[in-house]
Amino acid sequence: MTMNAATKDLLEKRCRLLGRHAPLFYDEPLYVVRGEGVWLFDADDRRYLDVYNNVPHVGHCHPHVVEALARQAAKLNVHTRYLNENILDYAERLLSKFDASLSMAMFACTGSEANEIALRMARHWTGGAGIIVTDLAYHGNTTAVAELGTAFMPEARNAPNVKSIPIPDSYRALDGLGGQALGQAYADRVAGAIAEFTKEGIKFAGLLICPEFANEGLLDVPPGFIEKAVAHVRRAGGLYIADEIQGGFGRTGKHWWGHEWDGVIPDIVTLGKPMGNGHPISGVVARADLVDAFGEHGMYFNTFGGNPVSCATAMAVLDVIEDENLLDNAVTVGRYTAEGLRRLQTKYDLIGDVRDKGLFFAVELVKDRTTKEPAGAQTGQIVNAMRQKGVLISRIGRGDNILKMRPPMPFSKQHADLLLSTLDDCFAAL
Ligand SMILES: Cc1ncc(COP(=O)(O)O)c(C=O)c1O
Repeated sequence: MTMNAATKDLLEKRCRLLGRHAPLFYDEPLYVVRGEGVWLFDADDRRYLDVYNNVPHVGHCHPHVVEALARQAAKLNVHTRYLNENILDYAERLLSKFDASLSMAMFACTGSEANEIALRMARHWTGGAGIIVTDLAYHGNTTAVAELGTAFMPEARNAPNVKSIPIPDSYRALDGLGGQALGQAYADRVAGAIAEFTKEGIKFAGLLICPEFANEGLLDVPPGFIEKAVAHVRRAGGLYIADEIQGGFGRTGKHWWGHEWDGVIPDIVTLGKPMGNGHPISGVVARADLVDAFGEHGMYFNTFGGNPVSCATAMAVLDVIEDENLLDNAVTVGRYTAEGLRRLQTKYDLIGDVRDKGLFFAVELVKDRTTKEPAGAQTGQIVNAMRQKGVLISRIGRGDNILKMRPPMPFSKQHADLLLSTLDDCFAAL
């Protein structure tokens, strides 16, 4: 590892000021000073292809978004207890992207806050407390939401109001099943968790999942799972909360929202990350009766959530998504990239599975294609070798063995070629 003096200094300072547990990417941490489109630049002006960051959704520092933010910041910024068009214009345009039943919006600043609101709303509406998540979930970092974080939050271990179901994974399928039978088997686990709540005297409130199961490894969800699982939830009086914080705003191509792929309309949807292209705005979109009942129960106020600058910024993000046809781009470049990844799979035995949805990719590395033993160490080597060669990706998974790639949406076929050839070089050098 060849770390220059400036990087070493920053690292020492960071450790002293933020503590040694503040997480960082890469064996040789990257000191970035500027971003543009799909590129990040380090202090020596070396450029890196960003194939990881989904927050700069329409590209790092997109001029239209920067201009809208700066223009509104120079004019007015206040909280939402005054009348102002920005929040209404934005809410109206955002809601037009959803099914008509999801007709009201609330705004916050982080995904965690949005999920916190969704939890409180569901618990208030149902009078229950029990929430079902997957056994490899991450939904944020507030006290209540950390209890859902079965992936790496210790709070999730002993939370009586939270039950987890196995991740609905087709690659490592439950009981060796496939197709509809597999979807049914995973959905039955939801019914089982509801029954356990009942046995323990805990009233059930809802199911909270990311429809792409992004943190779980961007799963190929078995057919029928969501439909059958949500049917169990609704039969038991619970709500379906879709966490679209990672995969929303067209990331998966074709549709604006991940839940549209399943044809099951949630009761509550939470939004965040890409919503403001890096500016902190998040949201909850829900049925009007839920929002009204929640409001009657107690006032919701968020000092910064939905302020005029945030809404101007988020509005500009929608402009760019539409003006630059980024959903179509996610479909065509996503397909092109996935084909390239599958070609690499035929070349390298280490690649056990390739999963894709629009501009979201997961490449699962295994030591043996039959046993599917996770190749965590090799995955780490690939991620770090890619960084050294100027392409930024990361990894997830129970065995830390899944390459995770979600580039800014203006990702082109040329960018995909660079990603694929660099991956090829890194796999060849392992
Ligand atoms: C699916 C999902 N939900 C919620 C969150 C929490 O969002 P935030 O970090 O903005 O609080 C994250 C963050 O990684 C996430 O991936």
